[in-house]
Amino acid sequence: MKTLHVELGERSYPIYIGRGLLGHPDLIQAHLPGGQVLVVTNEVVAPLYLDRMLASLAGKDTGSVVLPDGEAHKTLDSAMAVFDALLARRFGRNAAIVALGGGVIGDLAGFAAACYQRGVPFIQVPTTLLSQVDSSVGGKTAVNHPRGKNMIGAFYQPRCVLADTDTLDTLPDRELSAGLAEVIKYGFIRDPEFLAWLEANVERLLQRDPEALAYAIERSCINKAEIVAEDETETGVRATLNLGHTFGHAIETGMGYGVCLHGEAVAIGMCQAADLSRRLGWIGDDEVARVIRLLERARLPVVPPRELDADAFLEHMAVDKKNVDGGLRLVLLKSLGEATLPVAVDAGLLRATLECYGR
Ligand code: NAD
Ligand code: GLY
Repeated sequence: MKTLHVELGERSYPIYIGRGLLGHPDLIQAHLPGGQVLVVTNEVVAPLYLDRMLASLAGKDTGSVVLPDGEAHKTLDSAMAVFDALLARRFGRNAAIVALGGGVIGDLAGFAAACYQRGVPFIQVPTTLLSQVDSSVGGKTAVNHPRGKNMIGAFYQPRCVLADTDTLDTLPDRELSAGLAEVIKYGFIRDPEFLAWLEANVERLLQRDPEALAYAIERSCINKAEIVAEDETETGVRATLNLGHTFGHAIETGMGYGVCLHGEAVAIGMCQAADLSRRLGWIGDDEVARVIRLLERARLPVVPPRELDADAFLEHMAVDKKNVDGGLRLVLLKSLGEATLPVAVDAGLLRATLECYGR
């Protein structure tokens, strides 16, 4: 097992990464302040891992909420189902919420934990590659609004992150690739050495080589933990984690939540961000080709859906948390391995990118 730390003063916490961690009750139980625990999960993950999760909480007064699967259910209604379960069991301020699932469950359960009785202890047990390398770390919690992704949320840090890499054995290939988009993102925004490693090892990751996956998860979490420690609430460098996300969120909202997976939308968005960076003269054709090639090799889409024209993109991109006073700002690439902070861009260049379908 590897243990990393997110250094946030009194809110610091460990990230445990390794095989079979769900079989070690001591790990999670050390972070539970009280006797009551509600596990929040969904109908896909529950049959696979809920029994194992509850076994590791033996001795506690436990309950569980099994939500419908998918991004379309990352809503206030689902959060209400969590509040209903907590209240039905008379769970109090010491009760902990455990998120067992991917980023949808993690974001939603974290949001519910931030709100219930003004905040109860929260633990992340991520079961997708995407959630193990990104969403479970850093305390961003949210639900979607029909008009915009993650528009209702809070910064709320977990007490620990327990990433049992054995859970990835049951993850569908398409979801593995979606997770790779966020792994590759770290290479593009700040870690050129990792980018070179990914270019040499992407096939091993697709084949689920345990050693390669363990390295990619650990290196991703190191990158994420460093950024979060520097800028917990995204007043600066944390925004670089949003490379491709303004385009990507427009795809997710515009196509309807769940049609394009989050990681797939981010992959397309990173190609669009690279194209716009080239138009600004910051990177060249070769770098754009490298971005597209690696994402294609990770079996990710690199071209936006035909259904979304430039006007549709611009309408959805107008709803973004990085915008200031109604002005659009984007994270782009200064070079391959270095992202910019959010910048305002020339409207004509942006339209040119949106009209060329990412190429
Ligand atoms: P997800 O949570 O929808 O999980 C993907 C699919 O895999 C789902 O069908 C899920 O039920 C299933 N699944 C989960 N674990 C499984 C397992 N071990 N075996 C088989 N199936 C399994 O999607 P995701 O890609 O994990 O997360 C995407 C979400 O994360 C988005 O809502 C995105 O906005 C959010 N996100 C948040 C942050 C953050 O910092 N908070 C960062 C990145 C993404
Ligand atoms: N995934 C974006 C962030 O955590 O800031």
